[in-house]
Amino acid sequence: MTLPAHEHAPRHSPRHAAPAPPPGCPAHAAAGPDGTARLYGPAAETDPMSLYEELRALHGPVAPVLLDGDVRAWLVLGYTENRDVATRSTQFSRDPRVWHGWSTGEIDPATSPLMPMIGWRPDCVCADGEEHQRLRSAVTASLDQFDHRGIRRRINGFAHQLIDSFCERGQAELVDRFTEHLPMLTLIHLLGMSDEAAPRLVQAARDLFKATETSLASNAFVIASLEQLVRDKRVAPGQDIASALLAHPAGLTDDEVVNHLRLVLLAGYETTANLMSNVLRMVVTDPRFRGSLAGGQMTLPEAVEQVLWDEPPLMVCPSRYANGDTTIGGQQIRAGDMLLLGLAAGNVDQAVRPDPSAPVHHNRAHLSFSAGSHECPGQDIGRIIADTGIDILLTRLPDIALAVPESELTWRSSTWARHLTALPVTFAPRSPRTHQFASPLPAPPPQQTGMPEEAPETEPSAANGAPASWWARLRALLRW
Ligand code: HEM
Repeated sequence: MTLPAHEHAPRHSPRHAAPAPPPGCPAHAAAGPDGTARLYGPAAETDPMSLYEELRALHGPVAPVLLDGDVRAWLVLGYTENRDVATRSTQFSRDPRVWHGWSTGEIDPATSPLMPMIGWRPDCVCADGEEHQRLRSAVTASLDQFDHRGIRRRINGFAHQLIDSFCERGQAELVDRFTEHLPMLTLIHLLGMSDEAAPRLVQAARDLFKATETSLASNAFVIASLEQLVRDKRVAPGQDIASALLAHPAGLTDDEVVNHLRLVLLAGYETTANLMSNVLRMVVTDPRFRGSLAGGQMTLPEAVEQVLWDEPPLMVCPSRYANGDTTIGGQQIRAGDMLLLGLAAGNVDQAVRPDPSAPVHHNRAHLSFSAGSHECPGQDIGRIIADTGIDILLTRLPDIALAVPESELTWRSSTWARHLTALPVTFAPRSPRTHQFASPLPAPPPQQTGMPEEAPETEPSAANGAPASWWARLRALLRW
Protein backbone atom coordinates (compact mmCIF):
# COMPACT_ATOMS: atom_id res chain seq x y z
CA MET A 1 0.00 0.00 0.00
CA THR A 2 1.22 3.52 -0.81
CA LEU A 3 0.71 5.76 2.15
CA PRO A 4 0.29 9.50 1.82
CA ALA A 5 2.82 11.84 3.34
CA HIS A 6 0.58 14.29 5.15
CA GLU A 7 2.22 16.71 7.54
CA HIS A 8 -0.02 16.45 10.57
CA ALA A 9 1.05 16.36 14.17
CA PRO A 10 -0.65 13.78 16.39
CA ARG A 11 -3.85 15.28 17.69
CA HIS A 12 -4.72 15.10 21.33
CA SER A 13 -6.29 18.51 21.39
CA PRO A 14 -8.94 19.30 23.98
CA ARG A 15 -11.23 20.24 21.08
CA HIS A 16 -11.35 16.61 20.05
CA ALA A 17 -11.58 15.28 23.62
CA ALA A 18 -15.05 14.53 24.88
CA PRO A 19 -16.79 16.19 27.81
CA ALA A 20 -16.73 13.56 30.54
CA PRO A 21 -19.89 11.44 30.29
CA PRO A 22 -21.77 10.78 33.54
CA PRO A 23 -20.78 7.56 35.34
CA GLY A 24 -23.01 4.64 34.44
CA CYS A 25 -23.80 5.68 30.87
CA PRO A 26 -22.50 3.49 28.01
CA ALA A 27 -20.26 6.29 26.70
CA HIS A 28 -18.54 6.41 30.08
CA ALA A 29 -18.09 2.65 30.26
CA ALA A 30 -16.48 2.69 26.82
CA ALA A 31 -14.29 5.79 27.22
CA GLY A 32 -10.62 6.04 26.28
CA PRO A 33 -7.92 7.70 28.42
CA ASP A 34 -8.98 11.27 27.58
CA GLY A 35 -12.69 10.56 27.98
CA THR A 36 -13.44 10.09 24.27
CA ALA A 37 -15.91 7.25 23.77
CA ARG A 38 -14.60 4.00 22.33
CA LEU A 39 -16.64 2.61 19.48
CA TYR A 40 -15.17 -0.83 20.10
CA GLY A 41 -14.81 -3.25 22.98
CA PRO A 42 -17.42 -5.04 25.08
CA ALA A 43 -19.21 -1.98 26.43
CA ALA A 44 -19.67 -0.35 23.02
CA GLU A 45 -20.60 -3.58 21.30
CA THR A 46 -23.17 -4.82 23.82
CA ASP A 47 -25.60 -1.98 23.31
CA PRO A 48 -24.46 0.29 20.46
CA MET A 49 -27.82 2.05 20.08
CA SER A 50 -27.69 3.28 23.68
CA LEU A 51 -24.12 4.45 23.14
CA TYR A 52 -25.18 6.42 20.05
CA GLU A 53 -27.95 8.11 22.03
CA GLU A 54 -25.56 8.98 24.86
CA LEU A 55 -23.14 10.45 22.34
CA ARG A 56 -25.96 12.40 20.68
CA ALA A 57 -27.00 13.79 24.05
CA LEU A 58 -23.39 14.75 24.89
CA HIS A 59 -22.19 16.11 21.54
CA GLY A 60 -25.17 16.63 19.22
CA PRO A 61 -25.25 15.24 15.67
CA VAL A 62 -21.48 14.63 15.31
CA ALA A 63 -19.41 13.02 18.08
CA PRO A 64 -15.70 12.27 18.57
CA VAL A 65 -15.02 8.55 18.98
CA LEU A 66 -12.12 6.09 19.13
CA LEU A 67 -11.79 3.06 16.86
CA ASP A 68 -9.81 -0.12 17.56
CA GLY A 69 -6.35 0.90 18.77
CA ASP A 70 -7.78 4.24 19.92
CA VAL A 71 -7.73 5.61 16.38
CA ARG A 72 -9.58 8.92 16.32
CA ALA A 73 -12.65 9.57 14.19
CA TRP A 74 -15.93 11.50 14.13
CA LEU A 75 -19.17 9.54 14.29
CA VAL A 76 -21.99 11.25 12.40
CA LEU A 77 -25.24 10.65 14.29
CA GLY A 78 -27.73 13.06 12.69
CA TYR A 79 -29.87 12.04 9.72
CA THR A 80 -29.29 15.28 7.81
CA GLU A 81 -25.60 15.37 8.72
CA ASN A 82 -25.17 11.78 7.47
CA ARG A 83 -26.74 12.71 4.15
CA ASP A 84 -24.61 15.85 3.99
CA VAL A 85 -21.36 13.99 4.53
CA ALA A 86 -22.34 11.20 2.11
CA THR A 87 -23.43 13.55 -0.67
CA ARG A 88 -20.90 16.42 -0.40
CA SER A 89 -18.22 14.42 -2.16
CA THR A 90 -15.98 17.38 -2.94
CA GLN A 91 -15.72 18.22 0.77
CA PHE A 92 -15.65 14.68 2.09
CA SER A 93 -13.42 12.25 0.23
CA ARG A 94 -13.86 8.48 0.15
CA ASP A 95 -10.12 8.02 -0.49
CA PRO A 96 -8.44 6.77 2.73
CA ARG A 97 -5.12 8.26 1.63
CA VAL A 98 -6.53 11.66 2.57
CA TRP A 99 -6.52 10.57 6.25
CA HIS A 100 -3.74 12.16 8.32
CA GLY A 101 -3.56 9.14 10.63
CA TRP A 102 -1.15 7.36 8.28
CA SER A 103 1.59 9.87 8.93
CA THR A 104 0.95 10.49 12.63
CA GLY A 105 1.66 6.89 13.59
CA GLU A 106 -1.88 6.56 14.92
CA ILE A 107 -2.26 3.18 13.22
CA ASP A 108 0.07 0.30 12.41
CA PRO A 109 -1.10 -0.80 8.93
CA ALA A 110 0.73 -4.12 9.28
CA THR A 111 -1.28 -5.25 12.28
CA SER A 112 -4.39 -3.13 12.71
CA PRO A 113 -7.67 -5.08 12.41
CA LEU A 114 -9.14 -1.88 10.96
CA MET A 115 -7.20 -2.32 7.73
CA PRO A 116 -9.81 -4.42 5.83
CA MET A 117 -12.31 -1.63 6.52
CA ILE A 118 -10.22 1.53 6.16
CA GLY A 119 -7.17 0.52 4.11
CA TRP A 120 -6.83 1.86 0.56
CA ARG A 121 -7.60 -0.54 -2.28
CA PRO A 122 -7.92 0.01 -6.01
CA ASP A 123 -11.73 -0.16 -5.97
CA CYS A 124 -14.63 2.24 -6.37
CA VAL A 125 -15.15 2.52 -2.61
CA CYS A 126 -11.76 4.25 -2.25
CA ALA A 127 -12.13 6.54 -5.27
CA ASP A 128 -13.62 9.98 -5.86
CA GLY A 129 -14.83 11.93 -8.89
CA GLU A 130 -14.07 10.69 -12.40
CA GLU A 131 -12.07 7.71 -11.19
CA HIS A 132 -15.00 6.64 -9.03
CA GLN A 133 -17.36 7.00 -11.99
CA ARG A 134 -15.08 4.90 -14.20
CA LEU A 135 -14.88 2.04 -11.71
CA ARG A 136 -18.46 2.28 -10.53
CA SER A 137 -19.84 2.21 -14.10
CA ALA A 138 -18.24 -1.22 -14.54
CA VAL A 139 -19.68 -2.48 -11.24
CA THR A 140 -23.20 -1.27 -11.94
CA ALA A 141 -23.10 -2.72 -15.47
CA SER A 142 -21.95 -6.08 -14.10
CA LEU A 143 -24.83 -6.12 -11.59
CA ASP A 144 -27.45 -4.76 -13.99
CA GLN A 145 -26.82 -7.54 -16.54
CA PHE A 146 -28.83 -9.94 -14.40
CA ASP A 147 -32.51 -10.38 -14.98
CA HIS A 148 -34.27 -10.22 -11.61
CA ARG A 149 -36.53 -13.15 -12.44
CA GLY A 150 -33.48 -15.24 -13.23
CA ILE A 151 -31.89 -14.34 -9.90
CA ARG A 152 -35.12 -15.11 -8.05
CA ARG A 153 -35.36 -18.50 -9.75
CA ARG A 154 -31.85 -19.41 -8.67
CA ILE A 155 -32.41 -18.16 -5.11
CA ASN A 156 -35.58 -20.27 -5.06
CA GLY A 157 -33.53 -23.35 -5.84
CA PHE A 158 -30.90 -22.54 -3.21
CA ALA A 159 -33.50 -21.72 -0.54
CA HIS A 160 -35.43 -24.95 -1.09
CA GLN A 161 -32.22 -26.97 -0.94
CA LEU A 162 -31.17 -25.32 2.32
CA ILE A 163 -34.62 -25.86 3.86
CA ASP A 164 -34.66 -29.48 2.64
CA SER A 165 -31.51 -30.10 4.66
CA PHE A 166 -33.26 -29.43 7.97
CA CYS A 167 -37.04 -29.47 7.49
CA GLU A 168 -37.51 -33.10 8.55
CA ARG A 169 -35.97 -32.45 11.96
CA GLY A 170 -38.59 -30.02 13.24
CA GLN A 171 -35.86 -27.70 14.49
CA ALA A 172 -33.07 -25.63 12.99
CA GLU A 173 -30.60 -22.90 13.75
CA LEU A 174 -31.48 -20.43 11.02
CA VAL A 175 -28.39 -18.22 11.05
CA ASP A 176 -26.00 -21.08 10.42
CA ARG A 177 -28.31 -23.11 8.20
CA PHE A 178 -30.08 -20.44 6.21
CA THR A 179 -29.45 -16.71 6.53
CA GLU A 180 -25.64 -16.88 6.30
CA HIS A 181 -25.70 -19.33 3.41
CA LEU A 182 -28.30 -18.04 1.01
CA PRO A 183 -26.56 -14.71 0.25
CA MET A 184 -23.16 -16.36 -0.09
CA LEU A 185 -24.45 -19.10 -2.38
CA THR A 186 -26.14 -16.49 -4.53
CA LEU A 187 -23.17 -14.13 -4.67
CA ILE A 188 -20.51 -16.70 -5.50
CA HIS A 189 -22.64 -17.87 -8.41
CA LEU A 190 -23.17 -14.32 -9.58
CA LEU A 191 -19.42 -13.73 -9.42
CA GLY A 192 -18.82 -16.77 -11.62
CA MET A 193 -16.82 -18.73 -9.02
CA SER A 194 -16.06 -22.38 -9.76
CA ASP A 195 -17.67 -25.08 -7.64
CA GLU A 196 -14.29 -26.26 -6.38
CA ALA A 197 -13.24 -22.87 -5.03
CA ALA A 198 -16.48 -22.01 -3.31
CA PRO A 199 -16.42 -23.79 0.08
CA ARG A 200 -13.17 -22.35 1.42
CA LEU A 201 -14.13 -18.98 0.05
CA VAL A 202 -17.36 -19.11 2.04
CA GLN A 203 -15.40 -19.76 5.21
CA ALA A 204 -12.75 -17.10 4.57
CA ALA A 205 -15.26 -14.44 3.61
CA ARG A 206 -17.30 -15.16 6.73
CA ASP A 207 -14.15 -14.83 8.85
CA LEU A 208 -12.88 -11.68 7.17
CA PHE A 209 -15.73 -9.56 8.42
CA LYS A 210 -15.29 -10.61 12.03
CA ALA A 211 -12.11 -8.49 12.40
CA THR A 212 -10.36 -11.28 14.32
CA GLU A 213 -6.65 -12.05 14.37
CA THR A 214 -7.22 -14.30 11.34
CA SER A 215 -8.94 -11.57 9.31
CA LEU A 216 -5.80 -10.52 7.48
CA ALA A 217 -5.03 -14.13 6.48
CA SER A 218 -8.63 -14.64 5.36
CA ASN A 219 -8.41 -11.48 3.29
CA ALA A 220 -5.29 -12.85 1.57
CA PHE A 221 -7.07 -16.11 0.82
CA VAL A 222 -10.11 -14.35 -0.64
CA ILE A 223 -7.83 -12.27 -2.89
CA ALA A 224 -5.93 -15.36 -4.10
CA SER A 225 -9.20 -17.16 -4.98
CA LEU A 226 -10.48 -14.17 -6.90
CA GLU A 227 -7.19 -13.78 -8.79
CA GLN A 228 -7.62 -17.36 -9.97
CA LEU A 229 -11.20 -16.59 -11.01
CA VAL A 230 -10.01 -13.67 -13.14
CA ARG A 231 -7.41 -15.87 -14.85
CA ASP A 232 -10.10 -18.47 -15.56
CA LYS A 233 -12.59 -15.95 -16.92
CA ARG A 234 -10.03 -14.36 -19.23
CA VAL A 235 -9.82 -17.75 -20.94
CA ALA A 236 -13.46 -18.81 -20.68
CA PRO A 237 -15.86 -15.91 -20.04
CA GLY A 238 -19.45 -16.54 -18.97
CA GLN A 239 -22.46 -14.53 -17.96
CA ASP A 240 -21.20 -13.46 -14.58
CA ILE A 241 -19.84 -10.46 -12.74
CA ALA A 242 -16.18 -11.38 -13.28
CA SER A 243 -16.59 -11.66 -17.05
CA ALA A 244 -18.63 -8.45 -17.23
CA LEU A 245 -15.97 -6.50 -15.31
CA LEU A 246 -13.21 -7.84 -17.56
CA ALA A 247 -15.12 -6.91 -20.73
CA HIS A 248 -16.33 -3.46 -19.61
CA PRO A 249 -15.14 -0.47 -21.72
CA ALA A 250 -13.93 1.25 -18.53
CA GLY A 251 -10.84 -0.92 -19.04
CA LEU A 252 -10.28 -2.25 -15.53
CA THR A 253 -6.90 -3.85 -14.89
CA ASP A 254 -6.86 -7.40 -13.56
CA ASP A 255 -6.00 -6.02 -10.13
CA GLU A 256 -8.98 -3.69 -10.26
CA VAL A 257 -11.26 -6.54 -11.32
CA VAL A 258 -10.05 -8.70 -8.42
CA ASN A 259 -10.65 -5.92 -5.96
CA HIS A 260 -14.15 -5.28 -7.27
CA LEU A 261 -15.03 -8.95 -7.05
CA ARG A 262 -13.85 -8.91 -3.45
CA LEU A 263 -15.85 -5.78 -2.86
CA VAL A 264 -19.08 -7.25 -4.24
CA LEU A 265 -18.62 -10.42 -2.20
CA LEU A 266 -17.94 -8.65 1.07
CA ALA A 267 -20.34 -5.75 0.60
CA GLY A 268 -23.18 -8.06 -0.37
CA TYR A 269 -22.74 -11.06 1.88
CA GLU A 270 -22.70 -9.96 5.48
CA THR A 271 -25.18 -7.15 4.96
CA THR A 272 -27.77 -9.37 3.31
CA ALA A 273 -27.26 -12.16 5.86
CA ASN A 274 -27.75 -9.65 8.67
CA LEU A 275 -30.88 -8.29 7.09
CA MET A 276 -32.40 -11.76 6.75
CA SER A 277 -31.52 -12.70 10.33
CA ASN A 278 -33.00 -9.48 11.66
CA VAL A 279 -36.27 -9.90 9.75
CA LEU A 280 -36.65 -13.53 10.87
CA ARG A 281 -35.87 -12.60 14.46
CA MET A 282 -38.66 -10.02 14.34
CA VAL A 283 -41.02 -12.66 12.94
CA VAL A 284 -40.38 -15.06 15.84
CA THR A 285 -40.13 -12.49 18.65
CA ASP A 286 -42.60 -9.72 17.84
CA PRO A 287 -46.26 -10.82 17.61
CA ARG A 288 -47.30 -7.41 16.23
CA PHE A 289 -44.74 -7.66 13.41
CA ARG A 290 -45.73 -11.23 12.61
CA GLY A 291 -49.43 -10.38 12.84
CA SER A 292 -49.05 -7.48 10.40
CA LEU A 293 -47.28 -9.78 7.96
CA ALA A 294 -49.77 -12.62 8.33
CA GLY A 295 -52.76 -10.26 8.22
CA GLY A 296 -51.59 -8.49 5.08
CA GLN A 297 -51.21 -5.03 6.68
CA MET A 298 -47.52 -5.26 5.82
CA THR A 299 -46.07 -7.06 2.81
CA LEU A 300 -42.77 -8.93 3.12
CA PRO A 301 -40.86 -6.27 1.14
CA GLU A 302 -42.33 -3.68 3.50
CA ALA A 303 -41.29 -5.75 6.52
CA VAL A 304 -37.75 -5.80 5.09
CA GLU A 305 -37.87 -2.01 4.71
CA GLN A 306 -39.04 -1.58 8.31
CA VAL A 307 -36.10 -3.65 9.52
CA LEU A 308 -33.74 -1.64 7.29
CA TRP A 309 -34.90 1.45 9.20
CA ASP A 310 -34.67 -0.12 12.65
CA GLU A 311 -31.61 -2.35 12.35
CA PRO A 312 -29.37 -1.42 9.43
CA PRO A 313 -27.14 -4.37 8.47
CA LEU A 314 -24.20 -1.97 8.47
CA MET A 315 -24.66 0.23 11.54
CA VAL A 316 -21.55 2.32 10.97
CA CYS A 317 -20.21 2.86 7.47
CA PRO A 318 -16.50 3.55 6.92
CA SER A 319 -15.30 6.24 6.10
CA ARG A 320 -15.09 9.78 4.73
CA TYR A 321 -12.10 12.13 5.04
CA ALA A 322 -12.33 15.90 5.18
CA ASN A 323 -10.65 17.52 2.17
CA GLY A 324 -10.33 20.77 4.13
CA ASP A 325 -11.21 22.38 7.44
CA THR A 326 -14.99 22.59 7.82
CA THR A 327 -17.83 22.55 10.32
CA ILE A 328 -20.56 19.97 10.53
CA GLY A 329 -23.09 19.37 13.27
CA GLY A 330 -21.43 22.11 15.28
CA GLN A 331 -18.05 20.34 15.31
CA GLN A 332 -14.86 21.80 13.86
CA ILE A 333 -13.53 19.19 11.46
CA ARG A 334 -9.90 19.47 10.38
CA ALA A 335 -8.51 18.61 6.95
CA GLY A 336 -7.69 14.90 6.90
CA ASP A 337 -10.04 13.96 9.78
CA MET A 338 -11.89 10.66 9.48
CA LEU A 339 -15.69 10.64 9.62
CA LEU A 340 -17.88 7.56 9.97
CA LEU A 341 -21.47 7.46 8.74
CA GLY A 342 -23.65 6.44 11.69
CA LEU A 343 -26.39 4.83 9.61
CA ALA A 344 -28.21 3.22 12.55
CA ALA A 345 -28.05 6.41 14.60
CA GLY A 346 -29.22 8.53 11.65
CA ASN A 347 -32.19 6.24 11.01
CA VAL A 348 -33.58 6.90 14.50
CA ASP A 349 -32.78 10.61 14.60
CA GLN A 350 -35.80 12.36 16.16
CA ALA A 351 -35.63 14.95 13.39
CA VAL A 352 -36.99 12.32 10.97
CA ARG A 353 -38.62 9.86 13.38
CA PRO A 354 -40.20 11.69 16.29
CA ASP A 355 -41.95 8.44 17.26
CA PRO A 356 -39.53 5.54 16.64
CA SER A 357 -42.32 3.00 17.25
CA ALA A 358 -44.48 4.36 14.39
CA PRO A 359 -44.31 2.10 11.30
CA VAL A 360 -42.19 3.47 8.46
CA HIS A 361 -42.31 0.49 6.16
CA HIS A 362 -43.83 2.47 3.28
CA ASN A 363 -40.85 4.80 3.24
CA ARG A 364 -37.48 4.03 1.65
CA ALA A 365 -35.70 7.19 2.79
CA HIS A 366 -33.58 5.37 5.38
CA LEU A 367 -29.79 5.55 5.34
CA SER A 368 -29.15 1.81 5.33
CA PHE A 369 -27.83 1.82 1.77
CA SER A 370 -26.10 5.17 2.41
CA ALA A 371 -26.56 8.09 -0.03
CA GLY A 372 -24.74 10.07 -2.67
CA SER A 373 -22.42 8.78 -5.34
CA HIS A 374 -21.34 5.73 -3.30
CA GLU A 375 -24.90 4.62 -2.42
CA CYS A 376 -25.12 0.84 -2.55
CA PRO A 377 -25.41 -0.36 -6.17
CA GLY A 378 -26.40 -3.88 -5.03
CA GLN A 379 -29.45 -2.92 -3.00
CA ASP A 380 -31.92 -4.49 -5.44
CA ILE A 381 -30.03 -7.78 -5.36
CA GLY A 382 -29.81 -7.63 -1.56
CA ARG A 383 -33.56 -7.03 -1.31
CA ILE A 384 -34.31 -9.84 -3.78
CA ILE A 385 -32.20 -12.36 -1.82
CA ALA A 386 -33.85 -11.35 1.46
CA ASP A 387 -37.44 -11.18 0.11
CA THR A 388 -37.23 -14.42 -1.84
CA GLY A 389 -35.42 -16.45 0.82
CA ILE A 390 -37.66 -15.36 3.68
CA ASP A 391 -40.80 -15.81 1.59
CA ILE A 392 -39.88 -19.40 0.80
CA LEU A 393 -38.92 -20.16 4.39
CA LEU A 394 -42.18 -18.77 5.81
CA THR A 395 -44.25 -20.44 3.11
CA ARG A 396 -42.72 -23.83 3.81
CA LEU A 397 -42.44 -23.45 7.60
CA PRO A 398 -45.24 -21.03 8.53
CA ASP A 399 -45.29 -22.30 12.11
CA ILE A 400 -41.67 -21.49 13.01
CA ALA A 401 -41.32 -20.48 16.65
CA LEU A 402 -38.34 -19.39 18.70
CA ALA A 403 -36.85 -22.43 20.45
CA VAL A 404 -35.28 -20.48 23.34
CA PRO A 405 -36.36 -17.51 25.46
CA GLU A 406 -35.71 -14.28 23.57
CA SER A 407 -33.35 -13.17 26.36
CA GLU A 408 -30.99 -16.01 25.39
CA LEU A 409 -30.36 -14.68 21.88
CA THR A 410 -26.80 -13.42 21.49
CA TRP A 411 -24.97 -11.13 19.07
CA ARG A 412 -21.46 -10.90 17.73
CA SER A 413 -20.65 -7.24 17.44
CA SER A 414 -18.01 -4.99 16.01
CA THR A 415 -17.77 -1.26 15.46
CA TRP A 416 -19.47 -1.67 12.09
CA ALA A 417 -22.21 -4.23 12.51
CA ARG A 418 -24.06 -6.49 14.87
CA HIS A 419 -24.79 -10.08 13.93
CA LEU A 420 -27.26 -12.39 15.55
CA THR A 421 -25.12 -15.46 16.35
CA ALA A 422 -27.96 -17.98 16.35
CA LEU A 423 -31.69 -18.13 15.76
CA PRO A 424 -32.88 -21.55 16.95
CA VAL A 425 -36.45 -22.33 15.87
CA THR A 426 -38.87 -25.22 16.03
CA PHE A 427 -41.63 -26.17 13.60
CA ALA A 428 -43.66 -29.22 12.62
CA PRO A 429 -41.35 -31.65 10.76
CA ARG A 430 -41.97 -31.74 7.01
CA SER A 431 -40.72 -33.76 4.07
CA PRO A 432 -38.03 -32.34 1.84
CA ARG A 433 -39.04 -31.18 -1.60
CA THR A 434 -35.79 -32.00 -3.40
CA HIS A 435 -37.66 -34.30 -5.75
CA GLN A 436 -39.32 -31.25 -7.22
CA PHE A 437 -35.89 -30.09 -8.41
CA ALA A 438 -34.50 -33.46 -9.43
CA SER A 439 -34.84 -32.55 -13.10
CA PRO A 440 -33.09 -29.40 -14.19
CA LEU A 441 -35.43 -26.48 -14.65
CA PRO A 442 -36.02 -25.61 -18.31
CA ALA A 443 -33.06 -23.50 -19.37
CA PRO A 444 -34.16 -19.94 -20.11
CA PRO A 445 -32.58 -18.03 -22.98
CA PRO A 446 -28.99 -16.96 -22.12
CA GLN A 447 -29.82 -13.26 -21.81
CA GLN A 448 -32.54 -13.97 -19.27
CA THR A 449 -30.96 -16.49 -16.95
CA GLY A 450 -29.53 -13.99 -14.55
CA MET A 451 -27.07 -16.68 -13.46
CA PRO A 452 -24.11 -18.56 -14.89
CA GLU A 453 -25.23 -21.52 -16.94
CA GLU A 454 -22.72 -23.93 -15.46
CA ALA A 455 -24.12 -23.61 -11.94
CA PRO A 456 -25.68 -26.87 -10.66
CA GLU A 457 -29.40 -26.64 -9.98
CA THR A 458 -29.39 -29.50 -7.49
CA GLU A 459 -26.87 -31.34 -5.42
CA PRO A 460 -25.64 -34.36 -7.40
CA SER A 461 -26.42 -37.59 -5.64
CA ALA A 462 -23.45 -39.54 -4.34
CA ALA A 463 -25.37 -42.71 -5.16
CA ASN A 464 -25.42 -42.00 -8.90
CA GLY A 465 -21.66 -41.80 -9.01
CA ALA A 466 -21.51 -38.07 -9.63
CA PRO A 467 -18.26 -36.44 -8.51
CA ALA A 468 -18.48 -34.93 -5.04
CA SER A 469 -20.02 -31.48 -5.52
CA TRP A 470 -19.03 -28.33 -3.68
CA TRP A 471 -22.34 -28.68 -1.91
CA ALA A 472 -21.02 -31.83 -0.28
CA ARG A 473 -17.75 -30.16 0.59
CA LEU A 474 -19.55 -27.10 1.85
CA ARG A 475 -21.63 -29.26 4.13
CA ALA A 476 -18.58 -31.13 5.38
CA LEU A 477 -16.74 -27.88 5.99
CA LEU A 478 -19.62 -26.42 7.89
CA ARG A 479 -20.32 -29.70 9.69
CA TRP A 480 -23.82 -30.18 8.30
C1 HEM B 1 -29.20 -5.54 2.48
C2 HEM B 1 -28.08 -5.63 1.85
C3 HEM B 1 -27.09 -4.50 1.68
C4 HEM B 1 -26.88 -3.38 2.42
C5 HEM B 1 -27.62 -2.94 3.68
C6 HEM B 1 -25.81 -2.63 1.79
C7 HEM B 1 -25.32 -1.43 2.25
C8 HEM B 1 -24.27 -0.75 1.66
C9 HEM B 1 -23.68 0.44 2.19
C10 HEM B 1 -24.11 1.15 3.47
C11 HEM B 1 -22.68 0.82 1.36
C12 HEM B 1 -21.70 1.98 1.55
C13 HEM B 1 -22.03 3.18 0.72
C14 HEM B 1 -21.13 4.35 1.08
O1 HEM B 1 -19.93 4.20 1.27
O2 HEM B 1 -21.65 5.45 1.19
C15 HEM B 1 -22.64 -0.15 0.29
C16 HEM B 1 -21.76 -0.08 -0.78
C17 HEM B 1 -21.67 -1.05 -1.75
N1 HEM B 1 -22.47 -2.16 -1.87
FE1 HEM B 1 -24.02 -2.69 -0.67
N2 HEM B 1 -25.42 -3.32 0.70
C18 HEM B 1 -26.16 -4.46 0.58
C19 HEM B 1 -26.08 -5.41 -0.41
C20 HEM B 1 -25.22 -5.38 -1.47
C21 HEM B 1 -25.16 -6.37 -2.50
C22 HEM B 1 -26.05 -7.61 -2.56
C23 HEM B 1 -24.16 -5.99 -3.36
C24 HEM B 1 -23.69 -6.65 -4.62
C25 HEM B 1 -24.33 -7.58 -5.28
C26 HEM B 1 -23.61 -4.75 -2.85
C27 HEM B 1 -22.59 -4.04 -3.44
C28 HEM B 1 -22.05 -2.86 -2.97
C29 HEM B 1 -20.94 -2.15 -3.60
C30 HEM B 1 -20.20 -2.58 -4.86
C31 HEM B 1 -20.71 -1.00 -2.83
C32 HEM B 1 -19.66 0.09 -3.08
C33 HEM B 1 -20.27 1.24 -3.88
C34 HEM B 1 -19.37 2.45 -4.08
O3 HEM B 1 -18.50 2.72 -3.24
O4 HEM B 1 -19.55 3.17 -5.09
N3 HEM B 1 -24.27 -4.42 -1.71
N4 HEM B 1 -23.61 -1.08 0.49
